[in-house]
Amino acid sequence: MYYENIKCRYGIIGAGSISQFHMEGYNVLPNVKVIAVCDIHEQRAKDYAKKYDIPYVFTDYKKMLKLDELEAVSVTTWNNGHAPISIDALNAGKHVLCEKPLAMNAQEAQQMVDAAKANNKVLMVGFVRRFEEKANLLKKAVENGDLGNVYYVKTGYIRKWGNPGGWFADKKRSGGGPVIDLGVHVIDLVRYITGKPKAVSVSASTFHALGMKPDMKGLDKYFSADYDPENPYNDVEDAAVAIIKFDNGMTLFFETSWVLNIKKSQNYVNLFGDKAGAQMEPELEFYEERNKYFTETKPFLELGSDNMNTIFRREINHFVECILKDIPCRNPGKDGVEIMKILDAIYKSAETGKEVVLQ
Ligand SMILES: NC(=O)c1ccc[n+]([C@@H]2O[C@H](COP(=O)([O-])OP(=O)(O)OC[C@H]3O[C@@H](n4cnc5c(N)ncnc54)[C@H](O)[C@@H]3O)[C@@H](O)[C@H]2O)c1
Repeated sequence: MYYENIKCRYGIIGAGSISQFHMEGYNVLPNVKVIAVCDIHEQRAKDYAKKYDIPYVFTDYKKMLKLDELEAVSVTTWNNGHAPISIDALNAGKHVLCEKPLAMNAQEAQQMVDAAKANNKVLMVGFVRRFEEKANLLKKAVENGDLGNVYYVKTGYIRKWGNPGGWFADKKRSGGGPVIDLGVHVIDLVRYITGKPKAVSVSASTFHALGMKPDMKGLDKYFSADYDPENPYNDVEDAAVAIIKFDNGMTLFFETSWVLNIKKSQNYVNLFGDKAGAQMEPELEFYEERNKYFTETKPFLELGSDNMNTIFRREINHFVECILKDIPCRNPGKDGVEIMKILDAIYKSAETGKEVVLQ
């Protein structure tokens, strides 16, 4: 047929902002073509199809999944669509790359993993930061024992003023605020770098102290495509803090915010081992003792190696290779389930005021 010489035919479900990074990733690969796009917002889907020369356009993803020639899909919808759409896609025999968070909760995420197994298809989670060069260098350092026993980790993803509104701020569609949107990235990064230990307990607080502050002036901010300034609805937390303990004895301190009275936004991942320590942001650095002196070392990475476009291209390339070459998936669905268990526990601990013990 039309795209007969193409090895892999993909579809995009959810033609919003992050889907463009998926699209660009597919576009640069030979023998890969995005042949279908779906969005409940019809004009958005049509404009997208025109921009990227996509032959099939849908507003109902179930109709799109009936396309026999379609082999795989990127699920880039609001979070509440991730589980139902991915499960239907897997049951229709398509491989799935689903954006983070994998689902609204661990139970849904497990159902997605079960569907992938039952249909023998790839279910990959969009943990894109796993494709950063500095994350992989740090992971290698931990594996080589350069840090010794990593007993303490600190991570934060803090925005001074950054609630995007729209579906992000509507718990029914997002599942929560910065914990599920930003926390998911850095908690996963910590697990990935430190050999994927399992969480055993979580003690957390979430805060609803400041709200969204939609009328602030003087700073630029990203608003979601469906944000309505006439109705700036918001029922999610504006910040959170947690202590998470793991089965390898490691303790993680985690904090996040969309709105916080702080000097400026911050993003950090700091590891502390008994041989050396390391920080990943803004640049990867190692701290150790040499000849009785405290010493810092810093690898030189290629400029721009970890920018958004590059890490998404690496992620999409890996998803395509998982399908074409049948290689093990770096971001398997089961890792998404582990993270959802931690996020569920953060919300539960905050609600009950008690530590949550995980099995
Ligand atoms: N990996 C990252 O760094 C990263 C960054 C931003 C967002 N995300 C994730 O990507 C997803 C999308 O975020 P976004 O910022 O692109 O949002 P967005 O609002 O820009 O786009 C989402 C699109 O999905 C469409 N949609 C919703 N439900 C649908 C359904 N059932 N069928 C078809 N289309 C549907 C909406 O109309 C919208 O066009 C979210 O899960 C978010 O957490 C990941």
